[in-house]
Amino acid sequence: MPKSPPTAKWLNPFWTAFGENGFATLAFWTMCRFGEQIRREQKSLGFLELSGQQGTGKSTLLHFLAKLDGSEDYQAFNPGRATKAAYCRTLASIANRPIVFMDTDRFDWDEIKSLFNGRIGRASGTKTGDNGTDEPIFRGGLIIEQSAPFDASPAVLTRTLQLDFTKDRWTEATRQAAAELDNWQVSDFAEVASQRIDREASYLKTFRNAYAVHLNWLKKAGVENSRLCHIHAQLQAGVAALVEMFDIPAWMLERAHGHVDSMAIKRDIAERSLPSPPHSWGGVGAKSPTEGSPSASRTKPVIDYAFYVWLGIVCGFVGGILSAIVRLLIGGALK
Ligand SMILES: Nc1ncnc2c1ncn2[C@@H]1O[C@H](COP(=O)(O)OP(=O)(O)O)[C@@H](O)[C@H]1O
Ligand SMILES: [Mg+2]
Repeated sequence: MPKSPPTAKWLNPFWTAFGENGFATLAFWTMCRFGEQIRREQKSLGFLELSGQQGTGKSTLLHFLAKLDGSEDYQAFNPGRATKAAYCRTLASIANRPIVFMDTDRFDWDEIKSLFNGRIGRASGTKTGDNGTDEPIFRGGLIIEQSAPFDASPAVLTRTLQLDFTKDRWTEATRQAAAELDNWQVSDFAEVASQRIDREASYLKTFRNAYAVHLNWLKKAGVENSRLCHIHAQLQAGVAALVEMFDIPAWMLERAHGHVDSMAIKRDIAERSLPSPPHSWGGVGAKSPTEGSPSASRTKPVIDYAFYVWLGIVCGFVGGILSAIVRLLIGGALK
């Protein structure tokens, strides 16, 4: 019987420094550690893109997550500069951990589509001699770190969770918190890796249950694109399952869940090419627009507001036409 999750001393500075984006990234990172198990159950695992100008804290965050996970740094490379063979070899060597594509240039993003389902790509396999191909398998998770949001086809974009990084929420307190996290050593987190092994079963159980609940809720909230529903429900499940690893206050979880709901709604609206939502919907520290969601319980789904605004405009328009007709008829009758 595993012990209950320990209180994590790094959690408060982590929240102060990185907020909801940090939490979403922590959740995704932890999901990558169970990438094979998640793909076995759910067939696929979404990608995570961190985008934002240089100096917005993306590497600082990933560096801390690597330390928390027992490594001095995270594994990163530029796939656009690697030969086909090196690309395949690198991806095939990753098992149950994330790989970071960094400052990627000269790369056909469509190549990553198959990584979603754990395949590195048929063309890259070696011939087996029996007319088949030994297709290399991707057992890890993909994080993309970029200064500008990447330009890819809808097929790639709907497989990708997107977090925007800015300095908007930075203060002296966030700077100090980031510096404090930087001072932690890998050895300070020795117990985290062993906890993860002990807690695998409970993590996956919570992940599975939370995925079903959030998938259902995202659909009810009006997110139409089924792949966007799937990857955001996975991230929500990853946030929920963090409680199996660390002792996390409910309010942090609630804010992180609200953020991921906003991400899904915003992306789905963009996908349908509707007018883009107000900037604050997805921003770090933005209030959750997701009352009724499995985790947040304060405000109404954004989709409802959009619908009522739309209804108001239509009613106003139809009302205007009707009143003009009535005025014309009355005017005509009085003449
Ligand atoms: N939340 C934060 N608040 C204030 N300063 C931060 C924060 N996160 C990172 N920094 C500082 O910003 C600088 C640039 O961060 P870096 O992670 O290299 O950015 P990026 O990878 O986005 O280019 C570093 O000196 C880091 O200490
Ligand atoms: Mg960087």
